[in-house]
Formats: sequence, structure tokens, C-alpha cells
Amino acid sequence: MKLMVTGGAGFIGSNFIYYELKHHPEDTILCLDKLTYAGNLSTLEPAMKNSNFQFIRGDIADREFVNALFQKEKPDLVINFAAESHVDRSIEDPGIFLQTNILGTGVLMDACRTYGIKRYHQVSTDEVYGDLPLDRPDLFFTEETKLHTSSPYSASKASADLLVLAYYRTFHLPVSITRCSNNYGPYHFPEKLIPLMISRALADEPLPVYGKGENVRDWLYVEDHCAAIDLVIRKGREGEIYNIGGHNERTNLEVVKTILKELKKPESLITYVTDRPGHDMRYAIDPEKIHKELGWLPQTKFEDGIRLTIKWYLEHRQWWENILSGEYKNYFNTMYGKRLHQ
Ligand code: NAD
Ligand code: DAU
Repeated sequence: MKLMVTGGAGFIGSNFIYYELKHHPEDTILCLDKLTYAGNLSTLEPAMKNSNFQFIRGDIADREFVNALFQKEKPDLVINFAAESHVDRSIEDPGIFLQTNILGTGVLMDACRTYGIKRYHQVSTDEVYGDLPLDRPDLFFTEETKLHTSSPYSASKASADLLVLAYYRTFHLPVSITRCSNNYGPYHFPEKLIPLMISRALADEPLPVYGKGENVRDWLYVEDHCAAIDLVIRKGREGEIYNIGGHNERTNLEVVKTILKELKKPESLITYVTDRPGHDMRYAIDPEKIHKELGWLPQTKFEDGIRLTIKWYLEHRQWWENILSGEYKNYFNTMYGKRLHQ
């Protein structure tokens, strides 16, 4: 089978490409990525040596380009990871989130309708459900939880999900959707909580914790997410949504303190900064459906996953130091300049 993986030069997409090359050597993979600030071709260097892998640079929202690519390549499965993915950036400038996350999804699905497809899979997020209160640990997001978005990012992802379901009902496009909780692991862009804190702690720089650090996220090691998507695209039912998460809830402060302890750095590096506007309190996934239907269960406990992740960042300094020394430097100064000095 030929898989088209969009957004494969980013964090989860690249991990998924390596998962597929390892577990399905009979398949071929075509990665389509625009290489935005979040896409990194060096991440895919080992894959480039594999004759079953091909990289194409392009924009999923460019209809003419996408149609020509589908006509030439005729993929069997399309797995759409391509997105603007950072909540804080969506608060600064929502426009590109609508363009890529909503329009891009529509363009890809139109090409699927025109050229035929076995499955279009949308990689979505638990953020489409909004948040849960801290004082109700008994509550979890199920696939039936109503959509209730907080940020332009989550609203754009929820819009895309609705479009995917509409294409299933109206055009009978064979689709599936997964909604996953927070991932962590190798190749995570250092603007996100865990890699940001690891890189800054290693440099003995202040660690900017939003608000009081009480917000809770349900952390999943990225390889477990890849295994779940692999199951859904091959064995999951068409037209279905599957939630993915690992019952690994931690407050942000717990996560940051764990990183500091592992790196033997002092807690005095923690700096409380202005909160994110509209900041979601707690995410927590009920993964019962994917467990019952497809037998998926997370394999990596947070304590093990965070150690593996820290080890990876220590062993791949060049990868993230290149990012930190480039255009990202301006982003950090602009975004955190006002936060750190309040
Ligand atoms: P990322 O920001 O690390 O990577 C996104 C990739 O998409 C980059 O390689 C970028 O170049 C590419 N891209 C952006 N716009 C594009 C366009 N118009 N055309 C083609 N390529 C484009 O993101 P990630 O964290 O790997 O997330 C991947 C997907 O998983 C996203 O759809 C995100 O919403 C979803 N998701 C992420 C998480 C998480 O914790 N990171 C959790 C659940 C769901
Ligand atoms: O839940 C899935 C989502 O997880 C994905 O859909 C998103 O693409 C992904 O970016 C992630 O969103 P979050 O907003 O939860 O991730 P982020 O790493 O930006 O922040 C995690 C928590 O840490 C959040 O409560 C905000 C807080 N935070 C973040 C940063 C960057 C800080 O306290 N300080 C920071 O500097």
C-alpha cells in the first residue's frame, strides 16, 4: 500500500513515519510537508536512505498542487498530521490556523474524492472537547463529549473534524478520526512545554510556568500514539472517532519538577509568568473504545517515557540547538518578553 503522510517533517508525523517503516516494510510512504517553522528536514534524514520513502515539499491547502500530486501518486491511505499546532501562536495570529487546519483538510479530502482512496485519516486532538474542572477527577472525555473549544487552534481542529464527518455522510468518503491527548518524545519542537523546559533547564535559564502551574495534561509517549493510529487506519471502522490517551495526568508543575529532578537542576529555575488567555484547566481521555474495539493500550509509563525523552534530548543536542539558534530565538523573545517581565 502507498501511504501519504502529511506533516511528516513535524513531531508526531515523523515518529509515525519511523513507526510505519519499521512495522510495515512492505508499504511505501510519501511525506507531503510545507516545511513551516515546525517542519524539519533533518528529522527525516534517516528515512531518506530508505527506498520505500519519498519526501515532497508542498502545501496541503494548495488545491492545484495537491490535485496534481494525487493524480501522479494515487495514494491508498492519507494520514493528515499537517497542521499549525501551537495554541499560543493561534492566540497571537489565528489566520494561518484556519487556512491550514480547515481549508487544507478540505482540499485533501476533495482530492481523495476525485482520485479514490481506501482511507482518509484525520489526526485530531482532545482539545476539541474544551476542558474539565480540576475538582471532578471522575470526569473524562469520551467520543460523545460535546465539542466545546477554547482557542483558535482547537476551534480550527474541531471545524476540520466536522468537515471530515460531513464528507463521510454526504460523499461516503471512507474516513476516520483520532483525538489524542498531549504527546511527548523525540523530535518535539522546543516551543512546547516538555522540550522547552528540558532545553532551558540544561542552559540554567528561567522556566516559564503559566499561571500557578495547576493545569493538568494527560501525557502520552508519542510511539503509543503512532501505534494507535496504525491500528485505526488498518482495522478501525470507517466514519468512526477514536479517543487516544493513557491515564497519565500530571499538573504542569509536576512535569516541570520531574524534569528538574532528572537533570539535577534546582527548582529555583521555575518562574511563574502571565497565564495563557482562555487556558484549558484539565484534559483527560477515556480510551475505552479503542481498547475494546482494537485492543490498544499505552505501553509507556510517564516515568519511563520522560526519562527516554530527556535522554534523547541529551543525545541529540544538535537537532534542537539548531532550532533554538535560528528564527525561533525571535519568537521566544517576542512571546515571552512580556510574560517574563510581569
Ligand atoms: P508539529 O507542529 O510538530 O508539525 C506540524 C507539521 O505540519 C510540520 O512539519 C509543518 O511543516 C507541517 N505543516 C504545517 N502546515 C502545513 C501545510 N499547510 N501543508 C503541509 N504541511 C504543513 O505538530 P505535531 O505536534 O506533530 O502535531 C501533528 C498533528 O497532531 C496536528 O494535526 C496536531 O493537531 C495533532 N495533535 C498533536 C498533539 C501533540 O501533543 N503534539 C496531540 C494531539 C493531536
Ligand atoms: O492536548 C493535545 C494538544 O497538546 C495538541 O492538540 C497541541 O497541538 C499541543 O501543542 C498540546 O497543546 P497544549 O497547549 O496542551 O501544549 P503546550 O506544550 O503548549 O502546553 C502544555 C501545558 O503547559 C499548558 O497547560 C500550557 C503550559 N505551558 C506551556 C508553555 C509552552 C507553560 O506553563 N509554559 C510554557 O512555556
